[in-house]
Amino acid sequence: MNLTYLVTGAAGFIGSALVLRLLERGDNVIGIDNHNAYYDQALKEARLDRHANHLNYTHLRIDLTNRSAIEDAFARYKPRCVVNLAAQAGVRHSIDNPMVYIDSNIVGFAHILEGCRHHQVEHLVYASSSSVYGANTATPFSINQNVDHPLSLYAASKKTNELMAHTYSHLYGLPTTGLRFFTVYGPWGRPDMALFRFTKAILAGDPIQVFNYGKHRRDFTYIDDIIEGVLCTLDRPAPVNTKWDGNLPDPGTSLAPWRLYNIGNSQPIELLDYIDAIEEALSIKAIKELLPMQLGDVPDTHANVKDLIEQFDYKPTITIQDGIQRFVDWYRSYYKV
Ligand SMILES: NC(=O)c1ccc[n+]([C@@H]2O[C@H](COP(=O)([O-])OP(=O)(O)OC[C@H]3O[C@@H](n4cnc5c(N)ncnc54)[C@H](O)[C@@H]3O)[C@@H](O)[C@H]2O)c1
Repeated sequence: MNLTYLVTGAAGFIGSALVLRLLERGDNVIGIDNHNAYYDQALKEARLDRHANHLNYTHLRIDLTNRSAIEDAFARYKPRCVVNLAAQAGVRHSIDNPMVYIDSNIVGFAHILEGCRHHQVEHLVYASSSSVYGANTATPFSINQNVDHPLSLYAASKKTNELMAHTYSHLYGLPTTGLRFFTVYGPWGRPDMALFRFTKAILAGDPIQVFNYGKHRRDFTYIDDIIEGVLCTLDRPAPVNTKWDGNLPDPGTSLAPWRLYNIGNSQPIELLDYIDAIEEALSIKAIKELLPMQLGDVPDTHANVKDLIEQFDYKPTITIQDGIQRFVDWYRSYYKV
């Protein structure tokens, strides 16, 4: 039987890619997005054009902070599963614009939780982020580590989502799964992220700003590998961990139906090597402006994906060189450069 999924952030980078995959496998999808102006809205429209006219797709241009509009969407479409990807993303933007993170990521998420609670949703999956690991330095990052030291309000908003979800899983038995995505890249990607900014600047002959002198390592994860991780966790509502012990509380599981997963490539690379791969894909050398680390940034990220491997046989398949080449090919064809 086809299921109805509600996907928020459906005009976004990850949301639009997920909608395409759900439609491909025959599901019905209700997409929500407010098309905000954080970055080029034409890119959001173009992503949406790929699925807007599909027979099994309905698009709602509404804001998560609009409580009655979200309530109406749940009441009207009665989704079986919900994937919340809408959020104000970006670590750096949160330094100067804190309130939008409170509104979209915390108030908006509360509206999604209420909708799930009142409309018997079978599983809520939501985007968290590797940034919740904050000041932690023991790598690879594991969901079983404590994450109480966020370095940006963005990170704090994602950790807040995990806590709010736990409460609803405990109080109302709502199965919730939080996915900590590690730096996602690929075609149709976000203009505020390094790969997009570097490609654009290098093609224009402009210098690129390389923070932390290019020394930090990131677990860059290709969009298709992220979507595989979302799909496998989405299809299995979060189970309880019957062995969870309140005397020795494991931060990554619970007696409530609440789960967390890291979704990452698990092969971090240094930023300078990432830039090498971009130069190679473009056949152009970058002009690098080496700068110190930025406020709010974390030095290294590396995902421990043991749970995904053990429970779902998860395996990222796209190498950095291949993924960057696919991005560059898309960029050149989309922007005709
Ligand atoms: N891309 C990454 O590397 C990455 C890493 C970790 C976590 N995440 C998280 O994954 C999710 C998706 O990220 P993305 O890269 O696709 O970002 P994105 O900005 O491309 O997509 C988010 C979409 O949500 C929409 N949106 C924002 N606020 C909204 C609101 N209040 N109401 C309705 N729609 C709203 C935006 O218009 C946008 O289209 C986000 O929650 C993000 O924080 C992304």
